[in-house]
Amino acid sequence: MEKLVAVLLLVSAVGAHAASFPFILNYVLLIDCGLTGKTTEHYNNQIWFPDSFFIDPGKTKQITSSPNVPQIMTTLRYFPHGEHMNCYRLQLSNTQKYIFRAGFYYGNYDGKSQPPVFDLFLGGQLWETVNSSASTEGPVFHELVYAPKNDNISVCLMGRKESGGTPFISSLEATYLNEDETHNHTVYGMMRNGTAYHLVARLNFGGHDEVVEPWSGLADLCEERLNRYWTPQPMPGHKNLSFDATACSGSAYENRPPNSVINTAISPANASQSIYVPVNFPTTTPQSAYIVLYFYQNRIVDGPPENQSGTRNMDVYIDGVMRRNVKLEGLISGDVVTLYPVLVQGTVNVTISPANGTVLPPLLNGMEVYYATELAEEASSSNGVFKISCSVIVVWVCQLIVSVFLGF
Ligand SMILES: *[C@@H]1O[C@H](CO)[C@@H](O)[C@H](O)[C@H]1NC(C)=O
Ligand SMILES: *[C@@H]1O[C@H](CO)[C@@H](O)[C@H](O)[C@H]1NC(C)=O
Ligand SMILES: *[C@@H]1O[C@H](CO)[C@@H](O)[C@H](O)[C@H]1NC(C)=O
Ligand SMILES: *[C@@H]1O[C@H](CO)[C@@H](O)[C@H](O)[C@H]1NC(C)=O
Ligand SMILES: *[C@@H]1O[C@H](CO)[C@@H](O)[C@H](O)[C@H]1NC(C)=O
Ligand SMILES: *[C@@H]1O[C@H](CO)[C@@H](O)[C@H](O)[C@H]1NC(C)=O
Ligand SMILES: *[C@@H]1O[C@H](CO)[C@@H](O)[C@H](O)[C@H]1NC(C)=O
Ligand SMILES: *[C@@H]1O[C@H](CO)[C@@H](O)[C@H](O)[C@H]1NC(C)=O
Ligand SMILES: *[C@@H]1O[C@H](CO)[C@@H](O)[C@H](O)[C@H]1NC(C)=O
Repeated sequence: MEKLVAVLLLVSAVGAHAASFPFILNYVLLIDCGLTGKTTEHYNNQIWFPDSFFIDPGKTKQITSSPNVPQIMTTLRYFPHGEHMNCYRLQLSNTQKYIFRAGFYYGNYDGKSQPPVFDLFLGGQLWETVNSSASTEGPVFHELVYAPKNDNISVCLMGRKESGGTPFISSLEATYLNEDETHNHTVYGMMRNGTAYHLVARLNFGGHDEVVEPWSGLADLCEERLNRYWTPQPMPGHKNLSFDATACSGSAYENRPPNSVINTAISPANASQSIYVPVNFPTTTPQSAYIVLYFYQNRIVDGPPENQSGTRNMDVYIDGVMRRNVKLEGLISGDVVTLYPVLVQGTVNVTISPANGTVLPPLLNGMEVYYATELAEEASSSNGVFKISCSVIVVWVCQLIVSVFLGF
């Protein structure tokens, strides 16, 4: 403890504002559940903390690694006492918005070949029912955007009476969305306090088959900087387009999509056809949804050139109702369309159609879909321990200190 106090004093001498020490580094809190010991781990150029800092109950287990499974998902914490709430306490630096993500990879760790179904809670309220067999290939992730009411929020797991099975968790992350990310025009800015926005899909169209991963260092400012995953969405019967890279600024970069998402798109095989994307919502009850569509054009690479003096005029329909017209004019142009509230239930049809007078066919580069639930979070207050600031500039110093402090 003395050592920690010394470290805190040292950091507060250099520190400015923003993220909290010692657990939030570069705006993210990364926890590798089931990692044993008190030693941090390097993965994807970032520092992950063992979960023993944040939770007492449960047992840890290591599973055999496989190519589909990131290193972070090869350890887990399981809870034999699933009849109780088993809780992590996350000490966040403030009560602004965060992206919370929990990861689950069963990997037959108990040798029973029975992936469990259990409940996940945030701030004492149901976040999601986790079905760990929903994805047999890789991990199951649940993600939401939420501004906690207090900066000491719980993430808990509990078994379900009807389905049984031992709850477990493989990873837990919180990414701080600062003022730059939450001003008026971004989708995060539009999201209200007190409401949880559950991610349904975050898709990259026309790209390669790899998932676009969170940014892994300070080097590339045009890559994913908000710790989000973008899933490739192959669209049979569509053309893939690839565009020249540019500086990542302008109207296509609202919400900070990475260049590797923006620089690829799909277009219908026949210019007079529409792009049609069905979106499946996990709930059968009506929900209010946000649908974010990313449009961008530039000079084509690896393909026949397009008419650069022609406009691309598109109409966006949701379930057959025209919601927005999008016009891209000139060589480098883009737009981000956020549709909300969209009342959804089951499957929703997103259609991008050629509009009157268009020269170029419709395209679509990326899409994000969220639905909203009210989260009546438990009251709890923090006593302010560990609340020392640490700016991005001194973050490497902090990381060094954390490394030294944790003895690795
Ligand atoms: C949401 O909460 C944050 C932190 O308490 C506050 O700064 C912000 O103004 C709130 N936004 C709205 C729209 O109420
Ligand atoms: C969990 O997912 C599997 C595979 O998709 C499915 O067969 C099963 O019915 C689901 N269980 C529950 C309780 O939803
Ligand atoms: C947000 O929008 C309001 C109303 O349109 C405007 O008055 C305010 O200046 C905007 N704030 C920012 C940070 O853009
Ligand atoms: C487009 O890219 C996807 C990968 O995202 C690929 O599966 C598909 O075959 C490509 N389509 C064409 C027509 O090349
Ligand atoms: C494109 O679609 C239109 C209308 O459906 C059709 O008349 C035309 O033959 C199609 N062109 C090609 C190249 O398939
Ligand atoms: C390109 O678009 C312009 C403006 O719509 C049009 O006048 C021209 O004919 C088009 N060129 C070709 C080759 O299609
Ligand atoms: C969505 O599209 C499918 C296929 O075109 C259609 O069968 C379905 O009725 C549409 N759903 C809605 C709500 O418009
Ligand atoms: C398309 O434009 C023409 C001529 O401007 C107009 O007569 C027609 O109604 C428009 N169609 C639609 C669907 O807006
Ligand atoms: C967080 O909240 C829990 C439960 O309310 C409390 O026991 C704990 O001391 C709090 N931790 C901090 C650092 O405030």
